[in-house]
Amino acid sequence: MPIITFIEPDGRRRECDAADGETILDVGQRFGIDLEGSCEGCMACSTCHVIVGEDWFSKLEVASEEEDDMLDMAYDLTKTSRLGCQVVLNDGLDGIVVNLPSAHHNLMD
Ligand code: FES
Repeated sequence: MPIITFIEPDGRRRECDAADGETILDVGQRFGIDLEGSCEGCMACSTCHVIVGEDWFSKLEVASEEEDDMLDMAYDLTKTSRLGCQVVLNDGLDGIVVNLPSAHHNLMD
């Protein structure tokens, strides 16, 4: 069972147990992390934007073109940004650390 650590914009760390096959967004929502996910994983909002720790970014599957296009509209974009709804966790990602951006752009509003 992978463990994911969310780092909130104020520096607080939250360690959460993920089930194999859950996305970062799924886990965040289950634990009440401030990740809105307003389009529920349809890649239409970018409110699930997370900044993946540098050591972990290269271990993820490469983002699709659709994900990259949506990320371009995310607030606070970095080179290790991903959409939390598109990153599926597994045991190989046990210990992954992701930062929450300080704000989101919600394109669904
Ligand atoms: Fe909308 Fe991820 S939940 S893009």
